[in-house]
Amino acid sequence: MNNLLLEVENGVALLTINRPKSLNALNSETLAEINSCLMDLEKNEDVKVVILTGSGEKSFVAGADISEMVNATAAEGRVMGLLAREAFSRFENMPQVTIAAVNGFALGGGCEIAMSCDIRVASENAKFAQPECGLGILPGFGGTQRLARLVNKGRAKEMIFTCDMISADEACRIGLVNHVVPQAELIDYCKAMAGRIMKNAPLGIALAKQAINTGYDADLDTGLKLEANLFGLSFATADKKEGMTAFLEKRKEKNFIGK
Ligand code: CAA
Repeated sequence: MNNLLLEVENGVALLTINRPKSLNALNSETLAEINSCLMDLEKNEDVKVVILTGSGEKSFVAGADISEMVNATAAEGRVMGLLAREAFSRFENMPQVTIAAVNGFALGGGCEIAMSCDIRVASENAKFAQPECGLGILPGFGGTQRLARLVNKGRAKEMIFTCDMISADEACRIGLVNHVVPQAELIDYCKAMAGRIMKNAPLGIALAKQAINTGYDADLDTGLKLEANLFGLSFATADKKEGMTAFLEKRKEKNFIGK
């Protein structure tokens, strides 16, 4: 991997986009590497949480790589959009929990990759924007779809049409990020959250993630039926027996095995 760093420790994969000279902008090679790295991680049963961040203290991801896009044709632009779609959908749908640790600029494709993660935590210096319309294009890595769903349609339109950059606190206020923390504490904060997540049953979490994601875009009745089915499925797991037995035995420590 030329553009990524990966550390796996104690069930947590820390994935760092590492192109500091271009503020971690996403070129096609980086998108392909993210896709193939997530394909490996989603099969890795030792990994329960993936934390995504950018290298350096200035930028999470400053967007898609403008130097690659400037001479790209319509067909090449579409291929790039589809590559990002495949990679970003993996963050959204993989069985593990994904947390974006947004450590600086999250612009264009940077905001979009963060939005494809389950949870976003920003450092105090983080800034968010969808500047694409100022470049003569539109958000192409999910921004027109995920931003409207995550905040609301009006706010998404305002961010996309004005290209305004918003602070981490404003992003938190509108629901684009869950928490804002000092930059020096960002990764530890995300790892501590990962620790709390990993105390719970991995299959229960994976099924809940599936129910939330699928139900969010369906009507309520369809979502509730799916939830009932997945709820039933969870009763077939060893972890259900363990979780409930531990409660009844007044045991704090649970031995979840992910089966
Ligand atoms: N693509 C390619 N290179 C980028 C880049 C990007 N998205 N963002 C920054 N860089 C490069 C700069 O060209 C510069 O390179 P050189 O040192 O070789 O000149 C280097 O990173 C440092 O950037 P700046 O000198 O501009 O740093 P700054 O502190 O003055 O500004 C910034 C920082 C506000 C983030 C500014 O770099 C910027 O506005 N970047 C572009 C942000 C943007 O428009 N992103 C959206 C891209 S389009 C997109 O993402 C489409 C989509 O939907 C997927």
